[in-house]
Amino acid sequence: MTRMPIEKGPQGQSYYRRRLPPLRFISYSLVSICIVVTIVVKILPVRHLYVITPEEKVEETPEENSKTLQLKHIFHHGIGAKDYTLHKRLDITPAYLAKHSSYFKSLSFVEAEKEEVEEAEEEEEEEEAEKGGINVLNTNTFDWPKVHRGKNPFDIQLPFKTKQYKIKRLKDRHEPFFIESYLDYARSVNGNAEILNRINLEWSDDDVSVPNITDRDTLVSLATISSNAYVRFPKDDEEKKKSDWIDVGDWDPDEQHNNINFGWDSIGLRGHVFVSHDNKTVVIGIKGTSGAGLPGGGSDETSGIDKTNDNLLFSCCCARVGYMWTTVCDCYEKTYTCNQDCLERELRRKDRYYEAALDIYKNVTKLYPPETTEIWVTGHSLGGAVASLLGRTYGLPTVAIESPGEMLASNRLHLPKPPGLPRHLEHIWHFGNTADPIYMGVCNGASSSCSLAGYAMETACHTGYQCVYDVVTDKGWRVNLLNHRIHTVIDDIILTYNETAPCVDQAPCRDCFNWRFVSHDDDE
Ligand SMILES: *[C@@H]1O[C@H](CO)[C@@H](O)[C@H](O)[C@H]1NC(C)=O
Ligand SMILES: *[C@@H]1O[C@H](CO)[C@@H](O)[C@H](O)[C@H]1NC(C)=O
Ligand SMILES: *[C@@H]1O[C@H](CO)[C@@H](O)[C@H](O)[C@H]1NC(C)=O
Ligand SMILES: *[C@@H]1O[C@H](CO)[C@@H](O)[C@H](O)[C@H]1NC(C)=O
Repeated sequence: MTRMPIEKGPQGQSYYRRRLPPLRFISYSLVSICIVVTIVVKILPVRHLYVITPEEKVEETPEENSKTLQLKHIFHHGIGAKDYTLHKRLDITPAYLAKHSSYFKSLSFVEAEKEEVEEAEEEEEEEEAEKGGINVLNTNTFDWPKVHRGKNPFDIQLPFKTKQYKIKRLKDRHEPFFIESYLDYARSVNGNAEILNRINLEWSDDDVSVPNITDRDTLVSLATISSNAYVRFPKDDEEKKKSDWIDVGDWDPDEQHNNINFGWDSIGLRGHVFVSHDNKTVVIGIKGTSGAGLPGGGSDETSGIDKTNDNLLFSCCCARVGYMWTTVCDCYEKTYTCNQDCLERELRRKDRYYEAALDIYKNVTKLYPPETTEIWVTGHSLGGAVASLLGRTYGLPTVAIESPGEMLASNRLHLPKPPGLPRHLEHIWHFGNTADPIYMGVCNGASSSCSLAGYAMETACHTGYQCVYDVVTDKGWRVNLLNHRIHTVIDDIILTYNETAPCVDQAPCRDCFNWRFVSHDDDE
């Protein structure tokens, strides 16, 4: 893995990506909007100019080569000791969209206004980030790409193309608790390959439709599903009180727990489920509400939240990076010696992200049986890392965008690995860019923005294919946290290249090589 210079250049010089001056940009946009409007008015019969209601849209059965995905459900799972049993689902039906249309319109309005302001602030932000300033990390980012401006995130139609592919996966993966008991066993034998081989797991080679990630529109659609644009919902106080959310967990409203808004104030994990018109393709966009303080890393709703989950996934030893840090558990034994059992136990805890992701997946398969549906997962940043862990567990096609290295977590969880897996059967694609310190695994060290925000992002190795846009070489960008944001990735990276980034195997890579990990069998 190439190491990139961290955030600040040696002489503090600034190679910003060039921007059109605002006035010129606005006049260009106005001219192009006028041209488009003129063409649309000339070409389309007048009736098409009426607002299309959701019902009408559903009736337009698209051709095979113009398939689209639309948001149909939002799963929301609590995280942490207090909320982890909470799990709810919101169905985005045509009736629901109609009922709340004015609310959605107000959202788009706020969004448009916000973007204008943001554009003006952006240059300031970049300077701030360049100086390593922490303020920039707290700016709220709507993360809705310009390419979709004016479209309602709740009824947008996202095009996609598929290709046929073979995936080797566990035959019994959908038997209740099969995966969990395998993982428990693997942990109990410390992942000893020799012992695990004796179980003789049954694998099947399945022919599946996977996203055609060489198709740029498909990649933009998946990145859009990964974006955090929907995270603010429900924001409106009235909206929160409505009981459209269906309980799928153990939520039992009582005096203490009567707040439908659970988890919106603290951390949670969401699955935004997009479905094709024929119900054959389902994409789960995984979003972590953590990553607060990192631009595009998560939600603006959480502040001062606990960063335990992130630090557990991406640090060498429970975020023991200095004396001042509170560690996740008692993993840290002495200098560069870490208790592996404790790490692994912590990752599997019911109130952590991984188990929540399994719950969401299982509830999705209840609505869309995996025998008749292709289920894909995607996510940005922390969401992308959790998506790849889920994808690895169930053998699902996965596209992760700008996620921190998750190989260490994947090994610590002992996720099932098919024997002698030929590399070309890999079904996880990690998209990233060379100017994003989180994807590149260089957002660490005492003075890095990540450490300052309370994150120990020490990992750099990903599993699966690496599909990297080299914007440092191609565009002269400098490594900066702002290049982690999903709307920057969509508008200023993916859409400015004619072809999607080439995907290659992960070169041999090992994180935390200076640590010694010890196991104490009597701990169990
Ligand atoms: C994937 O998409 C690209 C770009 O649209 C296209 O050229 C290619 O033929 C597609 N591949 C498959 C296998 O359909
Ligand atoms: C849905 O999630 C809940 C936990 O939130 C879990 O108890 C339940 O078993 C899941 N449903 C299915 C069908 O797995
Ligand atoms: C897809 O599923 C929804 C509900 O789950 C159902 O109402 C709809 O008719 C299905 N569409 C097709 C084409 O099967
Ligand atoms: C991208 O495609 C456009 C239109 O086909 C072409 O004009 C342009 O030169 C291409 N750019 C690159 C870098 O290949």
